[in-house]
Amino acid sequence: MHRRIIAPGALAAASLMLAIPASAASWSPGAPGIGDPYYPAYGNGGYDVSHYDLRLKYRPTTDELSGTATILAKTTQDLSSFDLDFLLDVSEVRVNGARASFTTSGQHELVITPRTPLAEGTPITVVVRYSGVPSTKSAYGFNTWHRTPDGAVAADEPEAAWWWYPSNDHPLDKATYDVSVAVPNGTQALSNGTLQSTRSQLGWTRYNWRENKPQATYLTTLAIGRFDITTGTSEGGVPVVNAYSKDLGDDDGAARASVERTGELVDWLSGYFGPYPFSSAGGYVPNTTTGYALETQTRVYYSPRQFASGSNASVVVHELAHQWYGDSVSLKGWKDIWINEGFARYAQWLWSEHEGEGTTQELADYVYAEHPADDPFWKVAPGDPGPDNQFDIAVYDRGALAIQALRNAIGDDAFFAVLKGWPQEHAYGNASVADFEAYAEKVSGTSLGPLFDTWLFQPSKPAAPAAKGAAIAGSAAMPQPRSWKKIAATNDVH
Ligand code: ARG
Ligand code: ZN
Repeated sequence: MHRRIIAPGALAAASLMLAIPASAASWSPGAPGIGDPYYPAYGNGGYDVSHYDLRLKYRPTTDELSGTATILAKTTQDLSSFDLDFLLDVSEVRVNGARASFTTSGQHELVITPRTPLAEGTPITVVVRYSGVPSTKSAYGFNTWHRTPDGAVAADEPEAAWWWYPSNDHPLDKATYDVSVAVPNGTQALSNGTLQSTRSQLGWTRYNWRENKPQATYLTTLAIGRFDITTGTSEGGVPVVNAYSKDLGDDDGAARASVERTGELVDWLSGYFGPYPFSSAGGYVPNTTTGYALETQTRVYYSPRQFASGSNASVVVHELAHQWYGDSVSLKGWKDIWINEGFARYAQWLWSEHEGEGTTQELADYVYAEHPADDPFWKVAPGDPGPDNQFDIAVYDRGALAIQALRNAIGDDAFFAVLKGWPQEHAYGNASVADFEAYAEKVSGTSLGPLFDTWLFQPSKPAAPAAKGAAIAGSAAMPQPRSWKKIAATNDVH
């Protein structure tokens, strides 16, 4: 009922008398996971982070990363101890200025016991001093820290943070960031948001980056290497910072011919999704070899492999679409991955139509026809694919097909109102597939349960393609249809 700070001495005395005060019984450890059934140990319970300040130093020759993380958070329960997710070597932890004891447990848990228990609702400042060689650390037998000939890159999904900063590693706990990294003169350090300043002294150059909008842990990126950095502003006024490894070889031209279009494509996507949600945009192409790109917030990670066949504006559209669908509006649980990938793929289909390379309907028909009924493609439910199929092609292609089916069922005006309204409805927050379904029902005034079930959840090929004007099986108009026309009027794209 009432909360009060108990001095550690008082607690010790109480337990000596074997009479623990009622309020002391509520001090308990924060959970080692945030409660995501796909990844039970990811994230933690008992507190909520508002800001990460990372002050780091990195040596490309040895892969040594060292520094201090200062984490601002608020407790959400009475805590005797709490966890951060982290793999590097910790030398000191302080909570509210006082040295705290710490230990490691599980695959990536740093368990912190403050000198004094923490009452629910208390603002806390956690300082973690650390160092380590990220390429030597694994959890569950894997490592997603990418070394390059001239540095390293942290960019992966869902696991990336453990190798470079301690965090509450789940998209449910978003926070703002200051990332400051010192690297040897001549090397660059990239991260999210705006480059506030750089400073060189004693042979090191420090890059100070700031992301001032809430950001999920896996969307926080770090890249160190020798980069050529370009800056500009989109026609619509969004500042753009891009970077290319000086070591891209034959891929350099195609990479620039794609990523330099970031400003144009941000403005083009704004027509569908509404105002760009962040204060900067851009991408970087380091000399890595991964097969994937990643929508790291404001500063997209591209692998040179995306440009091995020539320019690829489509992948830029995909990753920029995520800035609205995935980054500003993040998923609540990893099972909700469709609200990220289905829409980023659908944005590529809209781009294809814009470029005269196939309409969204043609692409939907192609995906439907391409996979026969016995193709395992239809076994994957994009609405809840399971952790092993989180990035299965079905989440993307069947996911986009579901969006075309939705469009055909509710009509273009309601559909484009949903597409633009959703990023506003949940801006800088979290949402689920069920939230999307409810929102589309609200805007369209149509009951959509059977449609979502057929296209996103059934482990089988829908009986008929996503045809225009198709009736929704078993659907009925909702009792009080909401007029979408007001929202549709603001859609200036189609
Ligand atoms: N969200 C990324 C994209 O769609 C996919 C990342 C997949 N991650 C991975 N490790 N394969 O561009
Ligand atoms: Zn994606």
